[in-house]
Amino acid sequence: MTALTLSTAGAATLRADALVVGVAKGPKGPVVAPGAEAVDQAFDGKLAGVLDALGASGADGEVTKLPAPDGLKVPVVLAVGLGSAPEKDESYDEDALRRAAGAAARALHGAKKAAFALPLEDASAVTAVAEGALLGAYAFTAYQGGEKKDAKKGPLAEVALLGAKPRDKEHKAAVERAKIVATEVNIARDLVNTPPNDLTPEAFAAVAQATAKEIGVKVQVLDEKALLKGGYGGLMGVGKGSEAPPRLVKLSYTHPKAAKSLAFVGKGITYDSGGISLKPAGHNETMKCDMAGAAAVFASVVAAARLGLEVNVTGWLALAENMPSGSATRPGDVLRMYSGKTVEVLNTDAEGRLVLADALTKASEDRPDAIVDVATLTGAMVLALGNRTFGIMANDDAFRTAIHEIAEEVGEASWPMPLPADMRKGMDSPTADLANMGERMGGGLVAGLFLQEFVGEGITWAHLDIAGPAFHEGAAYGYTPKGGTGSAVRTLVRLAERTATGDLG
Ligand code: BES
Ligand code: MN
Ligand code: ZN
Repeated sequence: MTALTLSTAGAATLRADALVVGVAKGPKGPVVAPGAEAVDQAFDGKLAGVLDALGASGADGEVTKLPAPDGLKVPVVLAVGLGSAPEKDESYDEDALRRAAGAAARALHGAKKAAFALPLEDASAVTAVAEGALLGAYAFTAYQGGEKKDAKKGPLAEVALLGAKPRDKEHKAAVERAKIVATEVNIARDLVNTPPNDLTPEAFAAVAQATAKEIGVKVQVLDEKALLKGGYGGLMGVGKGSEAPPRLVKLSYTHPKAAKSLAFVGKGITYDSGGISLKPAGHNETMKCDMAGAAAVFASVVAAARLGLEVNVTGWLALAENMPSGSATRPGDVLRMYSGKTVEVLNTDAEGRLVLADALTKASEDRPDAIVDVATLTGAMVLALGNRTFGIMANDDAFRTAIHEIAEEVGEASWPMPLPADMRKGMDSPTADLANMGERMGGGLVAGLFLQEFVGEGITWAHLDIAGPAFHEGAAYGYTPKGGTGSAVRTLVRLAERTATGDLG
């Protein structure tokens, strides 16, 4: 990953390939953001005017490259838009800083070293800019081989943050935190982007095992034999059509002083073809992303461990591949789930809830203080909230609100969604305890109600449906690349931090 350092050098003295400054939208045209004073001086105080003349407005994500004047030790100045300038006495919005740093890092793809002179008013601004730069510089190149491999440019190699205080404890901690969080978000992205012929349930479990060993987190993997013996009808039912058998992975990070425990449960469908209820062309090309929940859970547990948080965090990865074949579950089959409940499978494409159900029951046995599951669960949630916002459902209003606020704080778009009790009867089955489908309308909520049936009595639980934001099909923007986004990692990590400090709002 891109290297990140805090530098005490002045903007006019540091040698680099480019110098990044912030430009905001003022009432009368672009204004140069704090942190770039020395750069503005090198432009004889006319940087805002030059930018204005070039048509720059300071809009969010706008990138303007200028040749550097004499007096700077860089060839290029890159002005990145921060959106509306804050009111007097207010500071720049953290996510605007994160997005701007990301856009700048993306625009500098192929460069060796860039100095960032963005407004760093406090430690949280340091975190935001550091995260943005590291997330924006991300590129997934593992599969770009062949003759041109060496000719291809790599991501921006080094970022020097100017204006932060390398000896300040808070600033140092902010950068260390940003590095860990961004690294893990990028690992979640890599997992999502890895093609499904390589990232099978077994391969994902092996990655989890190797990482856990490396960082001293306990790991247990149930293979198909153990799952069959243990009665995991949901995981086995979904996985039995595939040549690549299912896995249930448990990662346990514990801290000796922890007072609270969290369980994160991730949907890990390494490829969702729909099964016998096969998805049509046009709906299956991106379905390698259907393990993004498990990737987020894995990355978050690793981040919690690397941050040494005073909280116990258990991660459950419910891994299976949903394929049609002679051995696949049929619409009409009844599965006996790990909880003992029976489920009539009416649509094999509603598979995520089946693997999650088993993992939720299993996670409940440890009686954690709260369970959060993360899943690319329904197309209905994408219809409801669009491509950039995840839905939050919960059996506890305060917990749902807390997660919504935490997501907002870390710059992840989310929205609270209800679990209307009257919709449960739509899943009544004449044959089994319930069916895996219900009313078509509000399908995201139906899925949430299904999951709720498998959460242990009295355990606080929330469900994040990340089907929209997990995978980005459009052009990259801000710190969001094409493909896997690492959705929910930052929210889960902050939730773990808040739980550790007992500051859950
Ligand atoms: N993995 C899909 C949901 C999905 C859709 C994720 C779009 C990402 C983008 C899920 O397994 C699925 O197929 N859900 C069905 C449920 C239905 C059959 C009740 C859906 O949403 O259509
Ligand atoms: Mn499906
Ligand atoms: Zn799915």
